[in-house]
Amino acid sequence: MDNKYYVGYATIHKLVKSLADRLTASDYDPDVIVAIGSGGFIPARIVKTYINRPIYAVGISYYGIDQTHNSHPQKIQWIDETQQQLRGKKVLLIDEVDDTRATLSYCIRELLKNEPEEIAVLVLHNKRKSKDADFPSEITRYFAGEEIDDLWIKYPWDAIDIDEHEICEQNMLARLGRQGKEKV
Ligand code: G4P
Ligand code: MG
Repeated sequence: MDNKYYVGYATIHKLVKSLADRLTASDYDPDVIVAIGSGGFIPARIVKTYINRPIYAVGISYYGIDQTHNSHPQKIQWIDETQQQLRGKKVLLIDEVDDTRATLSYCIRELLKNEPEEIAVLVLHNKRKSKDADFPSEITRYFAGEEIDDLWIKYPWDAIDIDEHEICEQNMLARLGRQGKEKV
C-alpha cells in the first residue's frame, strides 16, 4: 500500500452533496460559481447539480508549459469581462484541494479586484499542514469536504485505469477500517 489517499468518483459526488447541504444550511446563496482549473472543473460541475448557478472557469498554474515550476502562480486562462460578471456578486470559488494555499490565495486576490460582494471558498479536501499563503481577511466562509493529513491525493480524473483506481480506494478504506479509523 503506497502512502496515497485514493478518492473515487462516487466518493467525490457524495462529498459534494454534503458540501452543498452545508452551503444550503448556511445563509450563503451564491450568484455564480468560479471553478479553478483544471482540478476544480469536475467538482464545480457536480456542485452545479445541487446549486444551479452559472460556472465561470479560470486557469491558474504553478507550472509552465515545459513543466518547470514558476516562482508564483500565473493565470493561464481568465474570465472575459470579469468586472461585469463578478461585480457585486456572491461568488463560490471551487477547487479540488487546499494544499499550500498559494494558488487559491492568488486567485482570490485577483478576483477581489473585480469587486464581488463576497467570495466563499469550497474545496473537496483540505490538507492539515502549515500553508505558504493566507487567505485575505475578506474570506470568512470556507467549506472543506474533508480534512486530511498531508498525503498525496489520487483523484479519479488522473487515473489511467479507473477500475484499478477504484480497487485501490476500496483497499485503502478497508485498511483504514481495520485500523479503526473511518478516514485519514
Ligand atoms: P492550493 O492553493 O489549492 O493549495 O494549490 P497549490 O498551489 O498548493 O497546488 C499546486 C498544484 O498541486 C495544484 O495543481 C494542485 O491541484 C496540485 N495538488 C496539490 N496537492 C495535491 C494532491 O494531493 N493531489 C493532486 N492530485 N494534486 C494536488 P494545479 O497546478 O492547479 O494543476 P491542476 O491539476 O489543477 O490542473
Ligand atoms: Mg488545481
